[in-house]
Amino acid sequence: MNTYTWQQVAQNLKNGWLVIDGIVYDPTPYLNEHPGGPAVLQNRFGKDATRDFNETGHTSGARQILQKYQVGIIDKTSPQEPWQAGGGTPASAQQFAYLIVALVIVFILWNIFAK
Ligand code: HEM
Repeated sequence: MNTYTWQQVAQNLKNGWLVIDGIVYDPTPYLNEHPGGPAVLQNRFGKDATRDFNETGHTSGARQILQKYQVGIIDKTSPQEPWQAGGGTPASAQQFAYLIVALVIVFILWNIFAK
């Protein structure tokens, strides 16, 4: 099987490539058959969809369908763009930071006005 870098996956965004568990897939022919709808797949084009795929409770049947659309494996040493990450960790870390800042502001205001 061919090996692709994250950069190549990004370049094939329009071709509908996405990555699940280190395998590169082109599920374009499957879009309209997907029980979860085409949009959720399209949103993950060019990205690592591992976490989304696993967290949406796909069955082993879904994994079998997946096999048909393999195009290669990912070069794990290749650099990944932040937007390609599958966990959404940067976004949620950012949201967490906002929450802390908001709590600190509330705490300060509370101290000023509660006196
Ligand atoms: C190419 C990759 C994918 C394949 C082959 C695939 C296949 C399937 C299949 C066969 C089902 C029916 C339930 C099952 O048998 O597990 C399903 C349901 C679903 N999929 Fe995917 N899936 C893929 C990627 C994704 C991704 C990336 C998401 C993103 C969130 C997603 C979201 C869903 C949802 C929400 C359902 C449930 C639909 C419902 O029950 O109404 N899928 N998928």
